[in-house]
Amino acid sequence: MTKPLIAVIVGSNRRDSINRKLAQALVKLGADKFDAKIVGIDDLPMYNQDNENGLPAEVARFKNDIAGADGVLIVTPEHDRSIPAVLKNAVDWGARPSGKNSWAGKPGFITGTSPGAIGSALAQQHLRSVMTGLGMILLGGEAYVTFKPNLADDDGHIGDDGTRKFLGGFIDRFAFLVGRLRAEPVRSAA
Ligand SMILES: Cc1cc2nc3c(=O)[nH]c(=O)nc-3n(C[C@H](O)[C@H](O)[C@H](O)COP(=O)(O)O)c2cc1C
Repeated sequence: MTKPLIAVIVGSNRRDSINRKLAQALVKLGADKFDAKIVGIDDLPMYNQDNENGLPAEVARFKNDIAGADGVLIVTPEHDRSIPAVLKNAVDWGARPSGKNSWAGKPGFITGTSPGAIGSALAQQHLRSVMTGLGMILLGGEAYVTFKPNLADDDGHIGDDGTRKFLGGFIDRFAFLVGRLRAEPVRSAA
């Protein structure tokens, strides 16, 4: 059987995003367990219900990428103690139109980093609540990462042993969850 494909969403449109760095490191940690595709969200237009009939091309591409993935990894910053607008916009497009919810039944792993002491915890908690409501099957646990300049090098290598083990455990459990649900996909009415 081929390796599962994970769609990777970074909740930041910043050129030097620390969350993109973390995402790349996580992809590297999971390289022997899954293939990964970074799915861009910064080209998505602002959600507007008027545009649901005849989706903009960028939105159709985005929804296709999610539909084609066996699981979704979301690595998000925290903006004003919540979900960054660029990510919430992508979540809303994914959820619509009614009956075409791209998230339902997909296994997901939410993590993220910020320089603050609680490492994006509130953004992650808000996002968990939203994605659970949309029918995603989220990996349990709390993967909050306080950013330090040496978190990951340019090759995506996590130097600190403890951090690498901590995140590696999540990646292992996520790959297991994706594998189980791939074998027996969850039926969803959404
Ligand atoms: C609009 C805005 C709001 C922010 N709010 C928070 C916050 O609530 N908590 C936090 O830890 N960091 C906050 N930050 C700092 C971010 O953690 C920091 O900019 C980080 O680099 C963002 O991640 P990124 O580099 O992946 O975009 C905020 C930054 C911006 C621009």
